[in-house]
Amino acid sequence: MSGEVKIVACVNLKGGVGKTALAVNFAAYCGMKNLKTLLIDLDPQTNATFSCISPEDWQKHAAEHGTVADLLGVRNHASAEGAAKDPASVIKRGVFQNVDLIPSHLDLFTIDLDLGAANARETKLRRALKDIVDNYDIVICDCPPNLTVPTQNALALSTHYVVPVSPDFLSGLGIALLLTRVAKFSDELESPIEHVGIAMSRVGRPSYYRAQTMESLRTTFGDKVFQTEIRERSAVSEATSKNVSVFQMNDKDAANEFAALSAEILAELGL
Ligand SMILES: Nc1ncnc2c1ncn2[C@@H]1O[C@H](COP(=O)(O)OP(=O)(O)OP(=O)(O)O)[C@@H](O)[C@H]1O
Ligand SMILES: [Mg+2]
Repeated sequence: MSGEVKIVACVNLKGGVGKTALAVNFAAYCGMKNLKTLLIDLDPQTNATFSCISPEDWQKHAAEHGTVADLLGVRNHASAEGAAKDPASVIKRGVFQNVDLIPSHLDLFTIDLDLGAANARETKLRRALKDIVDNYDIVICDCPPNLTVPTQNALALSTHYVVPVSPDFLSGLGIALLLTRVAKFSDELESPIEHVGIAMSRVGRPSYYRAQTMESLRTTFGDKVFQTEIRERSAVSEATSKNVSVFQMNDKDAANEFAALSAEILAELGL
């Protein structure tokens, strides 16, 4: 790795806060801005994968070329080592303009059991992709809602991370814990992982504590909270089911919000 490429993990301990929506649409935005972009789906739920490609395309690609599970050595639970495929072949090219995808696989659900005793299991992805990431301007990792082995692999690869937060009471609670844990992980790996910011997402979803949570996040984390707020809009989930980004939907407001947030993130990354 040359150190030039920006590698950004989308993380939060909480589920359903818009991590995948941000990872996918931020990737699409980067591609539209002519940045050569790699999106890596590290969530066994495979939501980012199926936001970009159809289940049929995934099935064919997984059978012929493999998925992120191959890079982590857990394909079909073969063994803790597995039979890793050529990392370059695992990449599905051109899912959006200038965006490539490393798809995920359900096998990741049990990776913590499968790799329980494996040495250096949290750096498997980094080692598998060491000759690949320099081909890109930006790499974006979508993570599951926890800090288990897939997220650890994303963080070990990453130079930066963003935290999408849905402004309900419970979403706000884990953020300080998350920031502390990532800082500790970064120290232990002796690999800087910079916190880029907190993105307020799915704003407008009915939520009793919304106003208090948003105010408290802005008070606690100050300018670490991005200015742009992503509102709850049906175009966002509809885009997912159509395997397109929000920029290809007929909703200017949704597109404008994701563009503005993406521009804020790129500015923080110096891109
Ligand atoms: N701004 C939005 N407006 C409307 N729906 C949204 C928006 N953002 C996300 N969604 C929808 O809400 C659900 C959860 O969003 P998303 O999958 O992005 O969250 P997540 O944090 O990745 O969840 P998980 O932790 O399960 O991976 C999805 O069905 C998604 O399509
Ligand atoms: Mg997700």
